[in-house]
Amino acid sequence: MASPAEHGCSAGGGPWGPGARLTLRRPDDWHVHLRDGALLQAVVAHTARPFARAIVMPNLRPPITTAAMGAAYRQRILDALRGSAGDAAAAAFTPLMTAYLTESIDPDELERGHGEGVFTAAKLYPAGATTNSDAGVRDLAHIPRVLERMERIGMPLLIHGEVTDPAVDIFDREAVFIERHLQPLLQRHPGLKVVLEHITTAEAAAFVAEGPGTLAATITPHHLHINRNALFQGGLRPDFYCLPVAKRELHRQALRRAATSGSPKFFLGTDSAPHERQAKESACGCAGIYNAPYAIESYAQVFSEAGALAQLEGFASEHGPRFYGLPLNPGQITLERRALDPDGPGLPAVLELANGTGTPTRLVPFHAGEQLEWALLEA
Ligand code: DOR
Ligand code: ZN
Repeated sequence: MASPAEHGCSAGGGPWGPGARLTLRRPDDWHVHLRDGALLQAVVAHTARPFARAIVMPNLRPPITTAAMGAAYRQRILDALRGSAGDAAAAAFTPLMTAYLTESIDPDELERGHGEGVFTAAKLYPAGATTNSDAGVRDLAHIPRVLERMERIGMPLLIHGEVTDPAVDIFDREAVFIERHLQPLLQRHPGLKVVLEHITTAEAAAFVAEGPGTLAATITPHHLHINRNALFQGGLRPDFYCLPVAKRELHRQALRRAATSGSPKFFLGTDSAPHERQAKESACGCAGIYNAPYAIESYAQVFSEAGALAQLEGFASEHGPRFYGLPLNPGQITLERRALDPDGPGLPAVLELANGTGTPTRLVPFHAGEQLEWALLEA
């Protein structure tokens, strides 16, 4: 077989030394926060750079609860992308919209939005679990008609899987959610497609791997790179704070095994969640890690370290569309084995991004100050 460096051949083992190239079917991001207004304008091009499609989270204020709101938000995303990266970038990117489940959401509205091609899926936020989740669901028993309808029409349910019970330790909230809520939900709705989003524990990885074919999970780059020590490394580190919070090293190892296993039940979802620097670095810092600028490089590093580059294409570009019942993307991307910032001190500590207001948006990217070993080549 020709060396990857010579031919830019696709994943399949071989010597992945400096200069080697890895070509993949163009990937998608199955979980991202693109925000709105100036922040949307600042961040959207980062997601559209490697990804053809992205499942866009609906936790705006007010949340996206109607098809009209979803369609208008989709248009704002495309307009912002056109403004920041041009017509070709906007034409090449498809935002896949989600509905925010409230206890009063109308199942007919969901079905209409799904049927019109506005809503690809619906997102369940347990009320109080995370950013802008106050309007979420307090108890799954309060929305039986919504869940029945989604099961009937084949609309995937995307779950932030953490209990909000203050008596449960924050590091146990995902595992307890699985036991108390997810397992019974799957039993009540055997036909419902469920994605357990941004899994963080060995329990979640095992539950999904052993679960029915209707159940899958997304895994973020940050949960593959950091464990909970990162939050306290040399002081309090708000840029590593997200929800679900990173867990112990044994959980990170379990997530790495799941992501690189080749199982079609695990796929790429960055959960890139930008908050302006001053909102992160404050007395009550917001949860969320901004990983969109180097997301595909970050995943490539994990698969490279695991000796599993042959599995990256499935995780990034195939398992997600197959689960959602969508076509695979036609295009390709190429990554090259080289330092992302070969001469510098590492990746920028802060990004100052134009947003159309004249005052840039300041965001700390995931991997700030570090080096990554794979670089995305521009198309
Ligand atoms: O860290 C997070 N940030 N987790 C979430 O579930 C929401 C997200 C956000 O919207 O900021
Ligand atoms: Zn999220």
